[in-house]
Amino acid sequence: MPEGERIAAVDDVPELGSHLFTVEDAFTNEREAILVTCDEAPGVRAWLNNCTHEAQRLDRGDGVAMRNGEIICPKHGSMFDACSGECNNGNAAGTTLPSIEITVADGAVFLRDDNYEYLRDGGMDDDDGPDSTSHLSF
Ligand code: FES
Repeated sequence: MPEGERIAAVDDVPELGSHLFTVEDAFTNEREAILVTCDEAPGVRAWLNNCTHEAQRLDRGDGVAMRNGEIICPKHGSMFDACSGECNNGNAAGTTLPSIEITVADGAVFLRDDNYEYLRDGGMDDDDGPDSTSHLSF
């Protein structure tokens, strides 16, 4: 059994999109994070769910937009490499998404980062917003 809190099954991470979850940082602040698929081993990466340009969520509750292995910021369109977190275009050029250490074992993703504690599935507003549409499916 791997160490660390289980975040999700690998199969729960969509090929195009993201799996949203909430962690607590070292200052006991809640932070949103995302799991995304990546072409390089172990096939999944975890990033904080914030653009490096402005305080903008990348996954607004319905998964990130992705194209050609890059995460697209919904506000100004900068694209971040899903594997490295690096951005070389638009307003966020020259920045890298803050990463969260994970490990993959037994078909699941586990949090392995001393700076974060796993809190729950989903985002920070998921259970107190009557206007949330994140659980709608089409
Ligand atoms: S807020 Fe993401 S590129 Fe501007």
